[in-house]
Amino acid sequence: MRHGRTARMDAASRDIVSPSPDVTARLAAQLGVWLGAGDVVLLSGPVGAGKSHFARALIQSRLAALGRCEDVPSPTFTLVQSYDLGDVELWHADLYRLSDTHEIIELGLEQAFEEAICLVEWPERLGDLAPADALHLRLNVGEQEDARLLAFGSAAQKWQTVLDALDPQAGVTHV
Ligand SMILES: Nc1ncnc2c1ncn2[C@@H]1O[C@H](COP(=O)(O)OP(=O)(O)OP(=O)(O)O)[C@@H](O)[C@H]1O
Ligand SMILES: [Mg+2]
Repeated sequence: MRHGRTARMDAASRDIVSPSPDVTARLAAQLGVWLGAGDVVLLSGPVGAGKSHFARALIQSRLAALGRCEDVPSPTFTLVQSYDLGDVELWHADLYRLSDTHEIIELGLEQAFEEAICLVEWPERLGDLAPADALHLRLNVGEQEDARLLAFGSAAQKWQTVLDALDPQAGVTHV
C-alpha cells in the first residue's frame, strides 16, 4: 500500500506534484472539462491542503466556459453550494461541519451523486454513502512551502483516461 492511500484497490490512479496554487488551479480546470452528470470527486487532506482551492478553480473554469464570472463562496456553513451549468448542476459540498449522516440525505446529496457533478470536501463524513465509482483526490502539503502532492485514485477504471490527460506543464511558458 502506498503512503497516504487507503486499503482501497485503485483501478485508476495518478500522483502529481503541484509546485504552486496556479498549477493546482490548472489541473482542476483540466479535470473539470471531463466532468458530467453523475461524476463525483472526493477531496480529502488536512486543513489548508488546497481542497477548496482545487474546487473553486474547477468551478470557476466551468463557469468561465459559459462566459460567466461569479463568486464561488465556501460552503463551510451552508454545507452545499450549487451552480446551474445549463445542462447539468454542479454541487460543491464541505462536510466538515456535518453533525449527523442523516443530513446528507436531507441535503439531497445522494440524489445529486446520481444527477449532478459533485465536489465533496471532507468526504470521510459520507461513510457508506460515498459512491463506489467516485474519483478520490487526496492533497497533502509537500516539502516546499507551495508544493502539494495530489494523489488521485478510483476503484473505477474509467478515470484512468482522464488522469492520464492531466498535464501540470500545460499552459506554462518557460523563459
Ligand atoms: N500548490 C498548491 N496548491 C494548492 N494550494 C496551495 C498550493 N500552494 C499553496 N497553496 C495555498 O494553500 C491554501 C489552501 O487553502 P484551502 O482553503 O484550499 O485548503 P483546504 O484544504 O480547503 O482547507 P480546509 O480543510 O480548511 O477547508 C491556499 O491559500 C492556497 O493558495
Ligand atoms: Mg476547504
